[in-house]
This record gives sequence, C-alpha cells and structure tokens, in this order.
Amino acid sequence: MEKPCPRSCRPEDPEPKARGLVDLHGRAIRYLRLSVTDRCNLRCRYCMPPVGTEWVPHEDVLSYEEMERILGVCSRLGVSKVRITGGEPLLRKGIEGFIARISAMGAVKDLSLTTNGVLLAGKARELRRSGLHRVNVSLDTLDRKKFAHITRVDAFDDVIRGICAAYEHGLRPVKVNVVAIKGFNDDEVAEFAGLTVRLPVEVRFIELMPLGCVSRFPELVHVEAGEILARIEEAYGGLEELEKGLGPATVYKIPGAHGRIGIIGALSGHAFCASCNRIRITARGRLRPCLFSEEELDIMTPLRSGVTDEELEAVIVEGVRRKPASHGACRGTSIGDRGPLRQAMHTIGG
Ligand code: 5AD
Ligand code: SF4
Repeated sequence: MEKPCPRSCRPEDPEPKARGLVDLHGRAIRYLRLSVTDRCNLRCRYCMPPVGTEWVPHEDVLSYEEMERILGVCSRLGVSKVRITGGEPLLRKGIEGFIARISAMGAVKDLSLTTNGVLLAGKARELRRSGLHRVNVSLDTLDRKKFAHITRVDAFDDVIRGICAAYEHGLRPVKVNVVAIKGFNDDEVAEFAGLTVRLPVEVRFIELMPLGCVSRFPELVHVEAGEILARIEEAYGGLEELEKGLGPATVYKIPGAHGRIGIIGALSGHAFCASCNRIRITARGRLRPCLFSEEELDIMTPLRSGVTDEELEAVIVEGVRRKPASHGACRGTSIGDRGPLRQAMHTIGG
C-alpha cells in the first residue's frame, strides 16, 4: 500500500513543497514580475487609447510594504529573480527606496526593471546604487517622428539618453525591447539588429500580442519571429545561435558583434510556454498565473485582512497550480483560439 507523504503534499504534486514552487506541468517557478503601477507617461497605440484611461485609484494599488511582504514569502518559496514592471515603474514615487529594500533582503539574485526609458537618464545612477542589476528599455523605432507617432509623445531623445545612462551607470546588460509591427517598423529590423554590431546591447524583437487596443486597430499586425530572423539574416548572413529554450527569447549573435539579438516568438514560438518560469503580480494585487489568461487570484484582500505568512504562501502556491500548460494564443489564427484579451499590458505588467 502507498505510504502517505510525510510532507503532506498531495499525491499529484510533481515535486514536494520543500523543493519550492513547481507547477502541475513540472515547471519550476523562480521568477516574479511585479507591477508597481498601472500608470504610464506614454500612450503606445497598441497599449492605450489616446484619452480616457481609468487609472486604478491609489488606495487600490499595493503599497511598498505589501509588496515587500509578498516578495519575502515568494523568496522563501524559491523565487530568486524579480522584475519590476508597470505601467511605467519609474513614475512611482520612492521606487529607488523600494528597490534598495528588496536588494537588502538578499534573496533576489537577479533584480531587473522594464521601463519606457523616458525618466531613466535622471534615475539610472540612483537605481544602480539602490541595488538594481539591469534594465530592459522599450523602444520600437529609431526614428524620432515614428516614435512620437507610436507612443503619442515626443520623447525619443529622452529614451536614447536613458539607454546611454543605464549603460554608463552599470545597469548591464542593457536590453532594448522592440515590439515588431507590420508596416510600422518591420523595415527597421536590420537597422536595430545592426546596433548590436558596435554596441554591447541586447536588442529583443517581440511579436505584437493580441492584448489591449491591438485588436481594435487593423493596422496593428504582428511580424512573425521567422520573418524577423529572415530579415536579419538577409542583411548580415548567418547568425550564431547562443540560447534556445532557456527563456522566452531565442538569442543570437551576428558573428563578431559586441551585442546580442533576442527574438521572442510570443505567439509562434513553441518553447515560449514550455519554458515559462514566471508568475505576475499586478499593481492591484492580483496574482496572474499566465499573461494570456484573464484568470487572476486576489492577493490584496487576504493581505489587508491580516493573514499569516503561511496563508499568503498558500495563495501563491495555488496561483502556481493554476498555471496553464500553454496559452493557446499561438494556435490557429494570429489572434489565437481564445481571441484577444481586453486587458492591456500596462494593467498586467508586461
Ligand atoms: N504585444 C507585445 N509587447 C507588448 N508590450 C506592451 N504591449 C504589448 C503587446 N500587445 C511590450 C512593451 C514593453 C514590454 C513590457 O511589453 O513595449 O517592451
Ligand atoms: Fe506605457 Fe509600456 Fe503601455 Fe507604452 S506599452 S503605453 S510604455 S505601459
């Protein structure tokens, strides 16, 4: 007869609890993406409407103390990689102090932040001093006018200054996120890739995903990962493949280049879901097991009603148990079987 498990984990658990967060599909969850605000100082056409966004009221956003508590519990469960996201995280007051406190916890081995770069030049030095390791900066075009068009704000120069400041102050490796959009920046793929020849940056091309405003605008069409790769190979010849299946990006290098090129087949890449090791927590305090599923677990209410750390742990373990095997958006049409999600990236946290 089968003996009961001494650690009281359920028989269907693929790994005992003591070994950290493992989902029902055997993926070890080590990576938390924490959104500190839904607000943004840009209005990218694929993310936000020109006017009329309703921001989450301040009192409904997790406080830094609440986030620190969540992080403490997550790190005890084995999370060692944390990315701060938004909206635009550098808009939130006191972000440097928050980062310094996370850093002082000592459990986070890789502490990064995704930013649109507009405020980065003025904050890079302090962020590095606070213990931030690195940044990803979103930049969809190298043309000032096109930048003002896609983001609806004329801030191209600020972003370029931000990228330079990040590198200068040691927030490395600097990664640049390029959301590839047909007819908008597919003609810039080779130029973006060319930046990596001289500069030690990682340029990451991301397939546009059917979130937020995307499905309302017929001009917002994604460029497939295969096409991005073909455009780069046409311009530079064969690429060296450096990493595949370690994260969402397949990483390449132009032979002899200083930097790297990542291609994130968010819709077409088969390894995308299989290698998913992350959970998200939104600014409203919801644990989101999968970017593409609207299912969220409320972590704010238990937090504010005085739960113990063990009870908080149980919510996080349950969130991980609910991670689907794959998102389904990669099957069938470009929009996917499930259809587009109403929620935009700024409310989910990238
Ligand atoms: N599809 C792909 N990437 C997106 N981002 C925001 N919305 C989308 C979308 N619909 C990008 C941002 C940023 C990162 C967090 O996600 O440009 O680089
Ligand atoms: Fe802001 Fe990022 Fe959304 Fe652009 S994509 S509006 S930078 S949250």
